[in-house]
Amino acid sequence: MASLELKGIRKSFGSTPVLDDVSLTLESREFIAFLGPSGSGKSTLLRIIAGLESADAGEVWLEGRRIDQLPPGDRGVAMVFQHYALYPHMSVRQNMAFGLRNARVPSEEIDRRIADAAAVLEIEPLLERKPAQLSGGQRQRVAIGRALVKEPKLFLLDEPLSNLDAALRLRTRVELAQLKQRVDAAVIMVTHDQAEAMTLADRIVVMNDRRIQQVGPPMEIYRRPANTFVAQFVGSPAMTLAPASLVEGDGEFAVLELGDGTLVETRVPRSVLPVGGALRLGIRPEAVRVGTSGTKAKVDLVERLGERTLVYARLADGQPITAEDSGNSSLKIGDEVTLEFDGAAAHLFDAEGNGYHRAGS
Ligand SMILES: Nc1ncnc2c1ncn2[C@@H]1O[C@H](COP(=O)(O)OP(=O)(O)O)[C@@H](O)[C@H]1O
Ligand SMILES: [Mg+2]
Repeated sequence: MASLELKGIRKSFGSTPVLDDVSLTLESREFIAFLGPSGSGKSTLLRIIAGLESADAGEVWLEGRRIDQLPPGDRGVAMVFQHYALYPHMSVRQNMAFGLRNARVPSEEIDRRIADAAAVLEIEPLLERKPAQLSGGQRQRVAIGRALVKEPKLFLLDEPLSNLDAALRLRTRVELAQLKQRVDAAVIMVTHDQAEAMTLADRIVVMNDRRIQQVGPPMEIYRRPANTFVAQFVGSPAMTLAPASLVEGDGEFAVLELGDGTLVETRVPRSVLPVGGALRLGIRPEAVRVGTSGTKAKVDLVERLGERTLVYARLADGQPITAEDSGNSSLKIGDEVTLEFDGAAAHLFDAEGNGYHRAGS
C-alpha cells in the first residue's frame, strides 16, 4: 500500500499562491527529501500534511485513510521542526513523555516507548538530563526522539540539520541514515541542502516556483534533470548552460556548435529533440577537463579544493564555463587554457527549459 498520497494540493497566502496542484505518492518506508530553494513552499507542504496548515484544495491520504480533515494529533504523523523547542525545565525523559501523557498513553507503555527510542537514538545516558546540559546534536536527537515515541506512520523533518555546525551536520546525517534502517515508517525530510538530499533520500522531490519540478532517485535527478532549474540546482558547482546550435547531419546523436565554434558530439539521440527552436548545451564541471587539445578559454577564477581544482573560465565568445583540473593544478587567473569536453556526458535543453539526455542511465 502507498504510504502517503497527496492529490492536487493548492495553497495561497492572501493573494500569493505558494503551492499549485502538488500531487505525490510515497511508498511505505520510503525516505523522501523535499529539496528546493528558500520560499519554494517546502515547509508549507509539510505543515499541510501534519495538519498545522489547511490546504485550499486537494486531499491528503495516509495508508488508505483520508487525513486532511483530521486534527493533527489523530493523523499518525509526527513532525520535527526546524526550530525545535524542548521544554527547558523538563528532563529528556519528561520531554519525550509529554505528548504521550497528554494522549493518555498508559505509563508502562510510555516507559517502553522511551526505552526503545532512546536505544535507537543512543541517548539512554541522557534521559535524566535537562536540555541545557546537552550539546546541540544531542538536543536534536531528543527532538527526534520526541517524534519517535509517537510511533507514527510518517515522520516529517523540517531542515533537521540546519541548526548544527558543519562537523555535527555530517555526523548527524550519518545518524539519520542509520535511523532510517531502524524505523518502520516513511520519512519526509525538508532541506535546501542538496548533499543532504542526495545522501539520505530514496527519492528526491525537487520543488521550485510553487510546483514539483521532478521526482526521482538521487542519481536520476543528477543524471537526467527534467529541466534547467533542476539541472542547475542539483550539482555543485552548477552545470554550465551554453547556447548552442544543432549541426545538420544524419548521425544518430546530436552534434552541437557553441558560440565560439566548438563542436560537441553528444550522445543525445537527434530523434528525441524538438524540431527548430533554440537549444542550450548543459555540461557539468567534471565533463570539462583542462587538457592539451581542444577549446581555448581564459581563466577568470581558480578554486583549489584539494583533490581537484575548479576552473571558472570564459570561451572566446565570452561564454562562461566551469571546468575541472587536477588537485595540483598550477593555473592562475588570466591564464589561457585548453578545455576538453566529454560530449558523452552532455545534456540538451530546449527553449522551454526541458531536458534531453543520452539514452539509458
Ligand atoms: N503564514 C504565512 N503567511 C504568509 N505567507 C507565508 C506564510 N508561511 C509561508 N509563507 C510564504 O509562503 C512561501 C513558501 O514558504 P515556505 O513554505 O516556508 O517555504 P520553504 O520552506 O520552502 O522555504 C514563502 O514565500 C513564504 O513567505
Ligand atoms: Mg522552510
